[in-house]
Amino acid sequence: MTRGRFITFEGGEGAGKSTQVGLLVDWLRDRGVSVVRTREPGGSPGAESIRDLVLNGPPERWSPTTELLLMYAARADHLERTIRPALAAGSWVVCDRFADSSRAYQGFAGGIDTVFIEQLDTAVVGRDQPDLTLVFDLPVEVGLARALERGGGESRFESKGAAFHQKLREGFACVVADHPDRCRVIDATGDVDAVFARVRAAVEVIAP
Ligand code: TYD
Repeated sequence: MTRGRFITFEGGEGAGKSTQVGLLVDWLRDRGVSVVRTREPGGSPGAESIRDLVLNGPPERWSPTTELLLMYAARADHLERTIRPALAAGSWVVCDRFADSSRAYQGFAGGIDTVFIEQLDTAVVGRDQPDLTLVFDLPVEVGLARALERGGGESRFESKGAAFHQKLREGFACVVADHPDRCRVIDATGDVDAVFARVRAAVEVIAP
């Protein structure tokens, strides 16, 4: 059984990632690929319970360290119960956010020591790093406006302010610079079709 491919979507708020995840999953299935669509934090029953804890409540509910540990606790369960079994069975896994969100949000924007994050990552994710990471990039004002338009109120993260989101954008740029082998920047400006053409071009390189 050939191991499946692991693709992650990353970026700030309101970049349109979730819509693009759906389009990519449909496109791969049309090509006969078995795909598991998943997300973080979450993606397994235990990790979804942790998601409720971490995304709800006031912005300062958790310190960055606690937040990071909750994210990696959820990630450990998600890897054990969902991602590793799917890849081993030959399915591709397309995940809306993964460890690079911890690097950008809790690390770069939250101020957690990157050495600590990489130690945790080695212990929890280990060799199961994504084969391809698409990092959605767009100006902070455009992303925040889109996130608010989407409605449903602000999450703990969306209420943190423009300076935080600017920092995030820089954080993701650093992630790309640190992992040039697997990361591709996707220009997230423009309409859904234009962005998907960029996503497809990046994925075609590894698609069957
Ligand atoms: P979600 O509503 O799924 O956001 P989006 O639609 O922008 O993907 O909420 C996920 C939030 O969790 C998002 O603000 C980013 C944050 N997050 C972290 O801070 N660290 C992490 O490791 C992960 C996976 C997510």
